[in-house]
Amino acid sequence: MATRRRGGSTEQVLVAGAGAMGSQIAVVCALAGLEVGLYDVDPAMLTRADRELRDRMSKQIAKGRRTAAEVDDAFARLRMDTALSALTGVDLVIEAVVEKLEVKRALFAELDQRCPPGTILASNSSSFVPSQMAHATARPDRFVNLHFFNPALVMRCVEVVRGPETSDATVEAAIDLVERIGKLPVVLDREIPGFVANRILNAVRDEAIGLLEGGYASIEAIDTACRTALGYPMGPFELMDLTGIDIGYLTKQARFEETGDPADAPSATVRAKVEAGHLGRKTGRGFYTYDEHGNRTRPT
Ligand code: 3HC
Repeated sequence: MATRRRGGSTEQVLVAGAGAMGSQIAVVCALAGLEVGLYDVDPAMLTRADRELRDRMSKQIAKGRRTAAEVDDAFARLRMDTALSALTGVDLVIEAVVEKLEVKRALFAELDQRCPPGTILASNSSSFVPSQMAHATARPDRFVNLHFFNPALVMRCVEVVRGPETSDATVEAAIDLVERIGKLPVVLDREIPGFVANRILNAVRDEAIGLLEGGYASIEAIDTACRTALGYPMGPFELMDLTGIDIGYLTKQARFEETGDPADAPSATVRAKVEAGHLGRKTGRGFYTYDEHGNRTRPT
């Protein structure tokens, strides 16, 4: 990728991990005019990301949200790769790989070796805080969490989380990037697992699962109450199906392994879904089932 720095601001971004989050983050950056590399070890993930992004963009063009020229320009700025090559001009990396600490730490160690010393390394993790990952690198001052929300093409908030060693310049560059891509930065001055939004969301989720497991109300009833009484755009079970039931599971499991507190452990309901491979929309079945077009059919 050609280097196009302007006044030290971010011009080239690498997104590592082409799942739903990483791929949408990448296209958001490309639509904002940045040069973007989307990296994944699995070529099938890149093929799927390309197909889904083109499909989403076609719908936006059809609805008159974007012009075909804007979308073509964005795709011309978005390169997909299964190798971590040509990182010399990358100003900032956003990691969005699986929620496993050892995987993230190994990736950050490699990125630290391959990226120029000035590159900022950012994680999209909500479960792992900067201090758990920054020391896999020799640049903890240039490490920050940039936490996007699903669907990243739509949700405006991005939490910018500073670790104990994150420099002011890194936080400023992160805020600058978030604003540049049309999102709204919410800065956390001190790290805490789950940050702001997911901590609040988890409390709602735990309560919803408790009501279900206690036999007080059905999945549909709980979701309907949240939508129609509380004005939530989606009920907690619908949302778990959207974000991936495994994501919440892995987050809770990691927290539980750290604290040993049974209150932090994944619920039996969520564990059973994960063990059955019913992870939500991405597998066609979670708390609800979905047809081949992604339309919801019924609770499982
Ligand atoms: N990917 C990309 N875009 C999507 C999408 C998806 N999966 N689902 C819907 N959209 C887009 C649509 O294309 C449409 O775009 P347009 O306005 O340009 O036409 C727009 O979103 C609105 O979609 P719809 O009209 O079909 O449906 P809704 O009005 O119900 O909106 C929603 C869908 C935006 C997903 C809304 O239901 C919502 O806000 N849900 C809550 C999402 C939420 O809480 N996210 C946070 C999850 S927690 C998290 O991400 C943390 C992480 O750590 C796990």
